Amino acid sequence: MARRILIAGNWKMNKVQSDGLALVEDLVGRVKGEGAAKFDMLVCPPFTLVSKACEAAAGSAVAVGGQDCHMNEKGAHTGDTSAWMLADLGCSYAIVGHSERRTDHAETNEQVRAKAEAAHAAGLIAIICIGETLAEREAGRTIEVNRTQLLGSLPDGATADNTVIAYEPVWAIGTGVVATPDQAQEVHAMLRAELVSAKGQGTADAMRILYGGSMNPKNAAELLALPDVDGGLIGGASLKADDFWAVAQGCP
Ligand code: 13P
Repeated sequence: MARRILIAGNWKMNKVQSDGLALVEDLVGRVKGEGAAKFDMLVCPPFTLVSKACEAAAGSAVAVGGQDCHMNEKGAHTGDTSAWMLADLGCSYAIVGHSERRTDHAETNEQVRAKAEAAHAAGLIAIICIGETLAEREAGRTIEVNRTQLLGSLPDGATADNTVIAYEPVWAIGTGVVATPDQAQEVHAMLRAELVSAKGQGTADAMRILYGGSMNPKNAAELLALPDVDGGLIGGASLKADDFWAVAQGCP
């Protein structure tokens, strides 16, 4: 089953207008120059830059997404941004349940699922993030933790068209310690099998599962070649066009 590779950049709380928009414009130019690219490309800037990033990427093959969204469409939620607001700007994706949100904002699986449902209702593709901590891995709980997060965060209405899963082992995020190919493939294969049980073979075969955590130009090709790795959710290496582009060139 051919799943199209997704190369997604999560800028986190980085960049201002000057360097952020230059990065989008640079990537738009590179994707255009590539012609029929082997991958989909996505950038998820901080909320302050989403509007201008959407303008800079309009009409190009570079998609723009939010790093989070609220579970409600609108209302008294000071400081929050709804999925409908992201869609209104031209976004096509929203990351939900990133481990930094789960940790910094105590987001639960139930809340992550509600956010993914909101993203779907607003017409966005939800990238649902899951992953175990180092303590959980060392306690032999990797499979159990990821299975629980997947099944707890996945909306009933999730399809291969509206949902992407991102496996991001917390110990690999921003540490320079990347999962080995065996570690990544083991979890991705388990997630695929769980998707078969939850959603059926067709959906499981078509749904993309990204790897995230210290992916960089040196290790990308090996990870992207794994049978159940369908792209990357990239933090640090998405902040420089040369690095992000080099990761994308690792596509098989
Ligand atoms: P790094 O690529 O910086 O490890 O971050 C990964 C990540 O958290 C992407 O969402």
